[in-house]
Amino acid sequence: MLVLLDQTRLPGEETELVCTDAPALVQAIRTLAVRGAPLLGIAGAYGVALAAARGFDVDEAADALANARPTAVNLAYGVRRAHAAYRDAVTAGADATDAARVALAAARALHQEDAEASRRMAAHGLALLDELLPGGGHRVLTHCNTGALVSGGEGTAFAVALAAHRVGRLRRLWVDETRPLLQGARLTAYEAARNGMAYTLLTDNAAGSLFAGGEVDAVLIGADRIAADGSVANKVGSYPLAVLARYHHVPFIVVAPVTTVDPETPDGASIEVEQRGGHEVTEVTVPFVPVTGVEAGGGIPVAPLGTQAYNPAFDVTPPELVTAIVTEEGVVSPVTREGLAELCARSRQV
Ligand code: MRU
Repeated sequence: MLVLLDQTRLPGEETELVCTDAPALVQAIRTLAVRGAPLLGIAGAYGVALAAARGFDVDEAADALANARPTAVNLAYGVRRAHAAYRDAVTAGADATDAARVALAAARALHQEDAEASRRMAAHGLALLDELLPGGGHRVLTHCNTGALVSGGEGTAFAVALAAHRVGRLRRLWVDETRPLLQGARLTAYEAARNGMAYTLLTDNAAGSLFAGGEVDAVLIGADRIAADGSVANKVGSYPLAVLARYHHVPFIVVAPVTTVDPETPDGASIEVEQRGGHEVTEVTVPFVPVTGVEAGGGIPVAPLGTQAYNPAFDVTPPELVTAIVTEEGVVSPVTREGLAELCARSRQV
């Protein structure tokens, strides 16, 4: 079985969610009980191992898991990796038990690598912040949730802020609430509080006045997919922050492992953006957990019944608005197709 921390229950409850088969994990992914690009990859890989260990149809499970959510490329990557390891083992003559063990080892390796990538991204990101903001005392704005909850380690963008905090150079972490599912309010604030960071929560709409008041030194966000041209898909609301940052001459920094860069996606327009149920916008659900599943709401309506909603889970920021992309392999700045390709090639050599 696969045991997850149910992120839909946070910060009120730290509850375990037990998945005994791939369909249960697919449901956990769709409801965002497990979420965030790197963690989706790790969970997907463990899901393949779970299907193999339980004797289910591994090809079918891999297909369902890889397609559970469309935008974060890490999910398909993690699934593919464990699936390939499993298939290679079967081709080499391994029995079902041994092939399942091989899939599990592949998932564990990915988990470990993500922890290591997280450490290296934090180091590169902190060095970049110090270079861009020589005065120290960084005031960083972040969006969505990018910490230990989404990673084998301490995360991506959040890990950089945490590294700055640990060396006494984080003056303030501005945390966007991140409507409609409140990953900032529920999850990033939870992680910032646990780490003793100086943080302030704001509604997404308040970011503009914060920039105008000169209160933001840098924006740090994660990514769900980075196209070959450097376009960045991340939680909806990231693109407006990039526009604000450019207008106010504030660095807009994306932190993501190399596995989030997708050379097969040529540009931003080619990224599939997940559209989610309108009830996430037209209702407030208390408690947050969807009561009757992803398709139905079950919350308190805050808009007239029958209201249509526009609810993309992500938006795409063009490369010209991104100051730098920080990965475990180093920093790309300015963000160019060539720079990213070189970085990916470097990562494949090791
Ligand atoms: O819909 P979610 O909560 O899975 O979206 C997560 C994000 O957008 C994160 O910012 C992204 O995955 C980067 S996490 C390192």
